[in-house]
Amino acid sequence: MEPLKGLILSGGKGTRLRPITHTSAKQLVPVANKPVLFYGIEAMAAAGIEEVGIIIAPDTGPEIEQVAGDGSRFGVRITYLLQDEPLGLAHAVLTAEPFLGTSPFVMYLGDNLLQGGISDLVAAFREHQPDALILLTAVPDPENYGVAELAPAPAGETGQVVRLVEKPQQPATDLALVGVYMFTGQIHDAARAIEPSARGELEITDAIQHLVDSGMRVEPHIVRGWWKDTGRLEDMLEANRLILDTQVERLDGELIDSRVDGRVVIEAGARLERTTVRGPAIIGAGARLTDCYVGPYTAIGERCEITASEVEHSILLAGCTVSDLDGRMESSLLGRNVSVRRGDRQPRAYRFMVGDNSDISIL
Ligand code: DAU
Repeated sequence: MEPLKGLILSGGKGTRLRPITHTSAKQLVPVANKPVLFYGIEAMAAAGIEEVGIIIAPDTGPEIEQVAGDGSRFGVRITYLLQDEPLGLAHAVLTAEPFLGTSPFVMYLGDNLLQGGISDLVAAFREHQPDALILLTAVPDPENYGVAELAPAPAGETGQVVRLVEKPQQPATDLALVGVYMFTGQIHDAARAIEPSARGELEITDAIQHLVDSGMRVEPHIVRGWWKDTGRLEDMLEANRLILDTQVERLDGELIDSRVDGRVVIEAGARLERTTVRGPAIIGAGARLTDCYVGPYTAIGERCEITASEVEHSILLAGCTVSDLDGRMESSLLGRNVSVRRGDRQPRAYRFMVGDNSDISIL
């Protein structure tokens, strides 16, 4: 088989993570202080893929290019592929056709996280040489995903793919399509053969169904580890939990009268004074924490300044300021340079300056 190429889809709109995605790409929202997108690039590099194409949208593309660069820091070569409009995952494949040529390739949705990487799957793809390989996992809400129906199979085996439906109202099974796929050049003709779906997109799910209908071999694999589509806040927080749970402790910052318990990373240049951090948690480079408590499953971005506050189970992007909070901040996602503080003026009141589509809950 020819060398595999990689295709990462990092275009699209990111409507479910507004307002964060008003100013930045959803694929750049950090999980354990690293952009979601980087996990996909690293998984490709670890699987021996050298040429990676990244689909970008006109508005968020330049930032993605700036952050991910030419790929040398990951050990891959990145080519950026501009998709003018988010017309669907199969449309993204067609956009990438000049880059992909007839090569077999791994397609990775830029907002997905897959535990354990893709090396084993790439090996299975090379060994069995199907026309496509798809990953499936049981989910509680299959109506939000592409859903697969498999033929009955003996216990312990995976049946053949019978039908794939994108976001069905009445799902036939709870087997969701995971956003990592392996294709041969056949997928281009399939993507050209299908019509846009009810949501106006060329669905990769329909293109794969077209392969099945044309008698091609589509090999399903059930994912054993965890998988997350980080498109919504709850998913981001859960992905953050899952990744922080696997991190190795490292203390490169400075601790003054402070205490860290459990799996905690303190990056270089961070300074903690009279602060307790209970892991798993990560404190970014140059952050300043004074008189604070940071609870489990928290990722504090670079240069954040937190004073006299408690934060738990949250993601704070770079440059946030949090001070003098009465209650504990939890299950929150703060964008870049957000400031949250207790006001000092009377009468006691809430004062906000928040962007469109923000979500604030106060007890
Ligand atoms: O996460 C798995 C699911 O991903 C699958 O179960 C579905 O079958 C599949 O259609 C897809 O569903 P989503 O509705 O979650 O896809 P989303 O619009 O979030 O796009 C996935 C990624 O691809 C995201 O990083 C944005 C990017 N994208 C999306 C579109 C529509 C593009 O680069 N170009 C596009 O045109």
